[in-house]
Amino acid sequence: MDVARLLLATNLLLLAIAVAALVNANVRDPYMDEIFHIPQAQRYCNGNWSFYDPKLTTPPGLYIASVALLKPLSQLLPNPCSPSTLRFTNVLFHIGTFFVLGKTIDRIRGGSQQDSTRKNWVEALTISFFPISYFFHFLYYTDSGSTFFTLLAFLWSLEDWHIGSAAASLVAMTFRQTNVIWMLFGAGTAVIRVLSDKKNPVTKGKLSTELSFRSLFSLIMLSINHLIYLIPILWPYISALGFFAGFIVWNGGIVLGDKTNHIAQLHVVQLFYFSAFSAFFLAPTINIPAKLKNFSALIGRSLKSPTGFVTLAALPVLAYIIISKFTIEHPFLLADNRHYTFYLWKLLFRTNAYIRYALIPGYLVAIYLVATSLASPALHTFLYAVCVALTLVPSPLLEFRYFLVPYLIARVYVKPPGWVGVMGELVLYMGFNVVTIWVFVAKGFKWEGVEGVQRFMY
Ligand SMILES: *[C@@H]1O[C@H](CO)[C@@H](O)[C@H](O)[C@H]1NC(C)=O
Repeated sequence: MDVARLLLATNLLLLAIAVAALVNANVRDPYMDEIFHIPQAQRYCNGNWSFYDPKLTTPPGLYIASVALLKPLSQLLPNPCSPSTLRFTNVLFHIGTFFVLGKTIDRIRGGSQQDSTRKNWVEALTISFFPISYFFHFLYYTDSGSTFFTLLAFLWSLEDWHIGSAAASLVAMTFRQTNVIWMLFGAGTAVIRVLSDKKNPVTKGKLSTELSFRSLFSLIMLSINHLIYLIPILWPYISALGFFAGFIVWNGGIVLGDKTNHIAQLHVVQLFYFSAFSAFFLAPTINIPAKLKNFSALIGRSLKSPTGFVTLAALPVLAYIIISKFTIEHPFLLADNRHYTFYLWKLLFRTNAYIRYALIPGYLVAIYLVATSLASPALHTFLYAVCVALTLVPSPLLEFRYFLVPYLIARVYVKPPGWVGVMGELVLYMGFNVVTIWVFVAKGFKWEGVEGVQRFMY
């Protein structure tokens, strides 16, 4: 194992231990969703496996992981089932995710030269500080484990170890059911890779990875023609999908327990929020002035041809229809003043009835910026966009944690940024981390008539 990587990971771990100590010293009792997660983990930790809190909407992956990781250490730890020890599970996932990110970027970029690989690992370190992930590594939430296993599954699918990938996906689904979509993404990219591989003696790389109706059609036809050849790739995913289907039938739906707050609706605007969110956090790694110049050149070219003009005119109209028909103001978003999204909604979207439409040009630019910054083949990017839609659109709640896996997958596919970009990204992420963790720890407030301290969070 590379010494430099171990050194980076050690730094990450030491900093995480310091932050965890700070958070645990100030936030001793379970906070927010932890009031469901921690007691459940403690029941398992104490050997009570028979009761599952009906308020929990996700399967028990996190609690089992905690017991599996902490039980071997129970001799060393004074209280292996305490909130602070349980929270430490996520610091372990944090370090694991760093290694997965580094290997994934190496794999995607085919990194072989020492220098480029070294930069890939510094990028992995930077991405490990992504604010939305970083914050939740210090609490007992399911996101760290969910992200770790989903990215691990994706890495193994890139490495063509499909049995491992499907198994890791199944584990990821025990943290969050929608991770099934990211398993399908991994499987889909593996199929595209094989069918477009010119060196492959069987498929001969007949699939074009351009995005067109023809290539989508040929993806389907070639998959059918080479089905026998693709079975060794696909059977683990199909089996895992079978397990998942079995779970849905047994459970009578995707969501466990309390289904009333989790009714799926068509929340298409999520894609606009996600594009703006991604463009913002990817900004340091993108050459924005050059992109904007290309964008206006594209508009100029489109205006010259009739089809281009019609397309250009149709996009804002389409966006308008989506916003007016498919915006959902979830009661949680309007009621809970402890979340940053509450203020985003109140101070931006609710100030004026037309703001949501005034943002349309910004959304379109954001989509352009993100889509053109990815180094993946167009067909890949299209599959990615479909998977993002499948995970985000059914969710009625604007919640940044749901953007985590989609964002990280976009980030590992971004065209390799220069050193300045990576350092800018690190500064941006760290700025958010310092402010949000400081506010969380030090700026608690009271709700009238409610016991305990309330704290701001994502
Ligand atoms: C398990 O926990 C539940 C809920 O806290 C409790 O009602 C039940 O008695 C416990 N079972 C055992 C065997 O301790």
